Amino acid sequence: MAQTDKPHTLWLGRWGFFLAATGSAVGLGNIWKFPYMTGENGGGAFVLIYLVCILLVGIPLMMTEIMMGRRGRSNPIDAVRKVAIEGGASPLWRIVGMMSMLSGFLILTFYAVVAGWSFEYVLTMASGQLSGASPELVGQTFGQFLESPGRLLIWDTLIVVITMTIVGLGVQGGVERNVGWMMPGMVVLLIAMVIYAGNSGGFIDGLTFLFAFDFSKITPTGILSALGHAFFTLSLAAGAIIAYGAYLPQDKSIVKTTLTVAFADTAIALLAGMAIFPIVFANGLETGSGPGLLFVTLPTAFAQMPFGSLFGTIFFVMLVLAALTSSISMVEASMAMVTERFGWSRPKAAVILGLLVWLLSLGTIVSFNIGADWKLFGRTIFENIDYLTANLLMPLGGLLMAILAAWILPRKITANELNMGNTYTMWLWVLRLVTPTCIVLIFAQQLGLIQF
Ligand code: PFF
Ligand code: NA
Repeated sequence: MAQTDKPHTLWLGRWGFFLAATGSAVGLGNIWKFPYMTGENGGGAFVLIYLVCILLVGIPLMMTEIMMGRRGRSNPIDAVRKVAIEGGASPLWRIVGMMSMLSGFLILTFYAVVAGWSFEYVLTMASGQLSGASPELVGQTFGQFLESPGRLLIWDTLIVVITMTIVGLGVQGGVERNVGWMMPGMVVLLIAMVIYAGNSGGFIDGLTFLFAFDFSKITPTGILSALGHAFFTLSLAAGAIIAYGAYLPQDKSIVKTTLTVAFADTAIALLAGMAIFPIVFANGLETGSGPGLLFVTLPTAFAQMPFGSLFGTIFFVMLVLAALTSSISMVEASMAMVTERFGWSRPKAAVILGLLVWLLSLGTIVSFNIGADWKLFGRTIFENIDYLTANLLMPLGGLLMAILAAWILPRKITANELNMGNTYTMWLWVLRLVTPTCIVLIFAQQLGLIQF
């Protein structure tokens, strides 16, 4: 049927999709966002709910998105539309594709800013200016940096330009080549940091904070954030996975790929937490200090350890690279959409989309300085974009996707595309019942309709 009626780009190497999907998943979400959200939401209980969400919502949905992309072999909007039509459903389901694409695009507007912070910290580390610095000085340094919109803007601009250049040239080669060595490197560095943290004097406190389930600390908002973060960290409901799935060769196993990507992503987040929280406790820092957590804790550790400037530099270089392989995936959906629908060339689309992202990113930049008091619903511009995407658009998009794939589409299509033998029934029923129930319950609870 429709899925093979035109030739379509595919990943180059055997591991192409796996590397690209891992590159998309592993990023600032794991190393920057997961630790500070865990800190803000009271620790272990948040982590547990997050892990449950990865298992019951994230993994089944990642399989579904790859399946949709590969079956539809187009940008997320048309992929969902085509598969819906093939399954006898309304083409209006493409709205799910649109919502996802919009999420990915909006996320990039703050993601590029934070990737820019990491860039600044490559230089901060390399210059050795923080070596031997006290935690207070490290904190002040970061505070002053956030207060200068000009500096934030320079790095943000650089990240947007690099991202759009790579996407403009075509994702395939660039992403595949970089992720292959970066992931192992990241893991090695994180393990080294965990070992350092193990000797910092705060290891037990840090791990207790991370893994002891104190449910009294969890709030409805915390639960919704854990769900939202499960989407964010696996790049779900953001167009990225559908867009990449469209380039997946027909003979690859969707299940195996999904499980490996989800495992790698979760492992890296937990390692980051195990590196960061011991340092927090050993130095009397605040667990709930928000988006600055990573940029204060790790530099504090680097300031104290031998060869800290060197390790720090390498660490932040890798963080920038990890962020870039994620940023790229956020625009690939929009890129595929405008090139396929409007017939634009990739370079032209890159310029236009890049300008748009860049303009919107100004809102995040000012959220940390001149616009820190400009609030809507009690949130800054950055916090609103984060909330809108992770806590509303993504869970809602995921819910609709689950309904479409598990209730509306004929089994003939999904079973054929997933090609997973007996385990298909498990995928089907988890996605029919468990995934939607989790999402609906969490929404209902957040809205105050139910309490648990
Ligand atoms: N998964 C990425 C991270 O954890 O950093 C963030 C992300 C990438 C979100 C791609 C959405 C997306 F489409
Ligand atoms: Na992630």
